[in-house]
Amino acid sequence: MTIQDSFRLAMRRYIYSVSIMSNKDEDKNLNAITVSSVTSISMQPPSLLVCINKNSRIHDSLKLGTKFCVNLLTKDHIGLSDICSSDDKYSERFIDKTWNTATVPFLESAQSNIFCIVDNLVSFHTHSIVIGLVEDAKFHEEISTLTYVDGSYK
Ligand SMILES: Cc1cc2nc3c(=O)[nH]c(=O)nc-3n(C[C@H](O)[C@H](O)[C@H](O)COP(=O)(O)O)c2cc1C
Repeated sequence: MTIQDSFRLAMRRYIYSVSIMSNKDEDKNLNAITVSSVTSISMQPPSLLVCINKNSRIHDSLKLGTKFCVNLLTKDHIGLSDICSSDDKYSERFIDKTWNTATVPFLESAQSNIFCIVDNLVSFHTHSIVIGLVEDAKFHEEISTLTYVDGSYK
């Protein structure tokens, strides 16, 4: 077994929470990508990071000072998570009625919405580590977080 294979299998044993990162690019085009790499960094200042593949559509729109939202999904959002992680469903990404796209796009039905501004970008081979300063956060009281383990939603 290669180190890549054993690393992948080791990582598949983690429980991930599933989010959609969303933004508008400079030309007001909407972007949304399913992510599991969201990690809080600090409370002082409130900050988080997301690792974004350089080949993804959203990647080049994430520049210093641009805004984005991390929408933590609920167990009712498996279909939307699939849509935002499938190239062939790209045209369906903003069909869900609970998207609010007036300014920074965010999913009103999400478990939580964390609004950020890009403060730092760290390039690491295939990915950029996007560090966001948190400007606002909303959440629903009931906890029903969508999780992903061993390649499947739980
Ligand atoms: C559960 C799950 C978690 C994912 N997490 C990430 C992630 O953290 N970063 C990333 O770049 N891609 C992640 N992906 C893959 C992207 O969602 C997928 O490649 C997407 O299609 C890329 O966006 P694009 O089609 O607009 O280029 C994840 C996919 C799934 C199903």
